[in-house]
Amino acid sequence: MKIIQSPAEMQSVAQAQRREGKTIGFVPTMGFLHEGHLSLMHSARARCDVLVASIFVNPTQFGPNEDLDAYPRDFERDEKLCREAGVDFLFYPTPENMYLDGHSIWVDEESLSGVLCGTSRPGHFRGVCTVVAKLLHIALPDFMVLGEKDAQQLRVLRRMVRDLNFPVEIVSGPTIREPDGLAKSSRNKYLRPEERAEAVCLFQGLEKAKELYSAGEREANVLKNSICEIIRKTSGSIDYVEIVDDETLKPVQTLNKPVLVALAVRFPGARLIDNAVLGK
Ligand code: PAJ
Repeated sequence: MKIIQSPAEMQSVAQAQRREGKTIGFVPTMGFLHEGHLSLMHSARARCDVLVASIFVNPTQFGPNEDLDAYPRDFERDEKLCREAGVDFLFYPTPENMYLDGHSIWVDEESLSGVLCGTSRPGHFRGVCTVVAKLLHIALPDFMVLGEKDAQQLRVLRRMVRDLNFPVEIVSGPTIREPDGLAKSSRNKYLRPEERAEAVCLFQGLEKAKELYSAGEREANVLKNSICEIIRKTSGSIDYVEIVDDETLKPVQTLNKPVLVALAVRFPGARLIDNAVLGK
């Protein structure tokens, strides 16, 4: 595995691989890797000649009062995990060489980004779209693997690739969970032991919603209330519990087509998100 820090070098390596007719798979991450990230790498590894992964804690997707400085980092451990996962090139740029002085071009998705996490994290998806657009131009992959854990991010990036004609396929991978159901996340380490125990409420809420849906319940409010009831028994505060159209992310009252059930809950240690798709 080769570690590359310079965007120009990464791009010329990718160009050379493509000229040789190799297919490139790409997994973008912010590091502090866990089994969720690794499962995406394994799925990419199985379908490409050359696997590129990136580790970059992208400053532009963090708000002024968010956890950019506190975001967990452990490059040595990540490097080892990437090597074991069969990564060929690990792109590990610095903020300075990703965002040159005077950087003034942004990619702004204007429809799907305005709801759910976009409401509580203004500017977040503009940062995500901009950095992923740059990473795609640098790594030149045939396909990119993204996790279903970040459901809105997945849909926003699919839209970016569609609307801006990026020559890349997006492949999604399922959410990997802890044994009790909590979705793996780099931020879980900031939960105190009592919060960690309560954090399973997101998964439990989604399971309850699935159970009611299977029993024939189709009213979004009934499902939402049953989720909120479970979360309110904990010290977590609800950022949002929404049931939205799986494609447009517009609110749905009665479930008669596929919907995304999306939750964000703030614990003192970390803000957690999770989701499930119903009716697909
Ligand atoms: P990060 O949070 O590091 O996540 C990198 C990728 O791993 C994303 O596609 C995310 O959906 C996926 N992922 C995270 N937790 C997962 C889990 N439990 N199971 C399966 N997949 C999981 O998402 C980002 O970084 C950034 O926004 C990025 C796309 C890299 C742009 O900066």
